Amino acid sequence: MAYQAKGKILKNSCVGGSYFKLSIFCPKISKAALPGQFVNLKISHGFIPLLRRPISIHNVRGSNVDLLYEVVGKGTELLSRKKAGEELDLIGPLGNGFSARGARRAILVAGGMGVAPLLFLAEKLKKQKPLVLIGAKTRKQILCVKEFEKIGCVVKIATDDGSCGFKGRATDLLKKILVRVTIYACGPKPMLKAVCVIAKAKNMPAQISLEEHMACGIGACLGCVVNTTKGMKRVCKEGPVFDSGEIIW
Ligand SMILES: Cc1cc2nc3c(=O)[nH]c(=O)nc-3n(C[C@H](O)[C@H](O)[C@H](O)COP(=O)(O)OP(=O)(O)OC[C@H]3O[C@@H](n4cnc5c(N)ncnc54)[C@H](O)[C@@H]3O)c2cc1C
Ligand code: FES
Repeated sequence: MAYQAKGKILKNSCVGGSYFKLSIFCPKISKAALPGQFVNLKISHGFIPLLRRPISIHNVRGSNVDLLYEVVGKGTELLSRKKAGEELDLIGPLGNGFSARGARRAILVAGGMGVAPLLFLAEKLKKQKPLVLIGAKTRKQILCVKEFEKIGCVVKIATDDGSCGFKGRATDLLKKILVRVTIYACGPKPMLKAVCVIAKAKNMPAQISLEEHMACGIGACLGCVVNTTKGMKRVCKEGPVFDSGEIIW
């Protein structure tokens, strides 16, 4: 069940470069949220930006919903200027979320901002101390390592330029995994496609979280459809999480 609610901003601070962490007091949404779901934020009272902006639920702490976002355009730039005490109009939690029931050992694979929904998932799976593979172009884009380690995850890093951890891709690290695990991944499409290929080759179950441009965010406009083995599906409604074998790339 999704709600439209006014949330009070508790904190909105830069965590390095163009990355921000936003904490919102919003008990209705925090109570209902599952890892992998997202909220759709109304950022301005005016027409710019006209549409809400979808942001994954990064974590939930009591009545608070945390979001992690990168400033990439007008909407996120305006969001970064919001101050503690201001109100935000949110719709959420939206989408299906990851299915973590009965999971064997989990590996979480994050590419860039793909770490955002995976911290909440790691919290839910913390008893089994998931392995987290974080990949990015360079050291400055590696986020949340301490947060994952704090809850008992083992973190391995890969950077394209070798400035931190393994020089290469997070999926190169995934290829080296020999035990049978459940893979949960979020990141850019080429990375998710590579995850699906690896999961198929190793016969491992995998869930991937897709990002598409969204207009309504509630399943009404068909602006976010992807082609799947079961027909066209809406990322905002039937997703954003899909089984790896489901997507036709
Ligand atoms: C389900 C979902 C969850 C998301 N979770 C997060 C998150 O946790 N943290 C975060 O930083 N971002 C997240 N995003 C992406 C975020 O919604 C966009 O970055 C944001 O809407 C950009 O708004 P803007 O007005 O700042 O930029 P715009 O001016 O709208 O766009 C700036 C640039 O970003 C690209 N862009 C915009 N929206 C998307 C999108 N949906 N997918 C890919 N590229 C996009 C545009 O093509 C353009 O190049 C998520 C998107 C979806 C669909
Ligand atoms: S964004 Fe409108 S149907 Fe998904």
